[in-house]
Amino acid sequence: MVGVAILGHGVVGSGVAEILEKNASRLAQKSMQDIELLYVLDVREFPDCPYAAKFTKDFSVIENDPRVQVVVETIGGVGVALDFTRRALLGGKNVVSSNKELVAEYGAELLSIARERNLNYLFEASVGGGIPIIRPISQCLAANELHEIYGILNGTTNYILTRMISHGLTMEEALAEAKQHGYAEANPTDDVEGNDACRKICILAALAFGRQIMPSSVSTEGITGVTLRDVRYAASGGMVVKLLGRAKVLDNGNVSAYVAPHLIHRDNPLASVEDVFNGIVVTGDAIGDVMFYGRGAGKMPTASAVVADIIDAAKHLNARKLIFWDKADDNKFEPASAIPSAWYVRAKMSESQARELFGEISMLSCDEAADGEIAFVTPEIGGEMPSAAGIESVMRVL
Ligand code: HSE
Repeated sequence: MVGVAILGHGVVGSGVAEILEKNASRLAQKSMQDIELLYVLDVREFPDCPYAAKFTKDFSVIENDPRVQVVVETIGGVGVALDFTRRALLGGKNVVSSNKELVAEYGAELLSIARERNLNYLFEASVGGGIPIIRPISQCLAANELHEIYGILNGTTNYILTRMISHGLTMEEALAEAKQHGYAEANPTDDVEGNDACRKICILAALAFGRQIMPSSVSTEGITGVTLRDVRYAASGGMVVKLLGRAKVLDNGNVSAYVAPHLIHRDNPLASVEDVFNGIVVTGDAIGDVMFYGRGAGKMPTASAVVADIIDAAKHLNARKLIFWDKADDNKFEPASAIPSAWYVRAKMSESQARELFGEISMLSCDEAADGEIAFVTPEIGGEMPSAAGIESVMRVL
């Protein structure tokens, strides 16, 4: 028997408990031994829960029970979650996590503790909700030199953009729906300002390129500056607006990464990724482009990824999985301006002024254009994003 303790009974933690309780015999078959939920840690009371007897408020009960071999951390954040994860690993317990903030900021340290103790620290659910992405990058694509990863990494903002564009909702209305569905973070600012996508691109980049990138070094812009006029201008050029995270290996071997809204052409497969779905493109030297697609947030898709990790941890109690990355090195990271781009520009200026500034531009149109306003796409520009008097909005074009 492998004993499991779940830390946190929120959206994801309760989904994991539900699967462990309901599907016990199927999980036993898959992991070739019984997986038993022994504890659920939460500061709140859940008296009506069918497994109410398993609740505890005291982590030391879990820490000191030798039957617990897998600790599942779904608390989130880097406060007690970090303390409990360190203590679980130092105490010889495997840890499975859905906590992207913790993995992005402390992954190098926690993976190193796990490695020293021949334990597993697994976090498939930290990126892409239910989409298998961590294991494919670390195992299935292991033969490749990976060059670039980019994609729609936040379900909430993709849901908001879809509802705003296709159904005319305001950002507030769409966010309220995303909260109801259990997609949004405890602090939804992390979704709409791009911080959640930033943590996820940092995890993917660390995994693919072997070195941690601190979220604080990554230029991060969310969707709060995107207007419906921008969306209409984009549509006139056969493009849609999507929030993308991107990390790329540069010619000098350094890595650059950023999160920002983009205009992407309708023939790009990411353009049709809608609602809560995520789409992630990985480029490798042997495979070329491979795209991962599925539900990027929500209780059961995310719990599905966590439970898969629990099974994996149970099957590999004495064999460490090969996930590892080095500590961050500022000298090997470059700002977003290192990645050249064509740009969408909305500005109060004349077309001839725009051509003087940017050269051969493609004009876009919108029925609701403000007085004196134009919008266009520039040719590819290296360095910083365009800035000049009159410019009101700029976004990269992919
Ligand atoms: N708030 C996150 C999202 C949850 O919307 O993508 C899944 O990580």
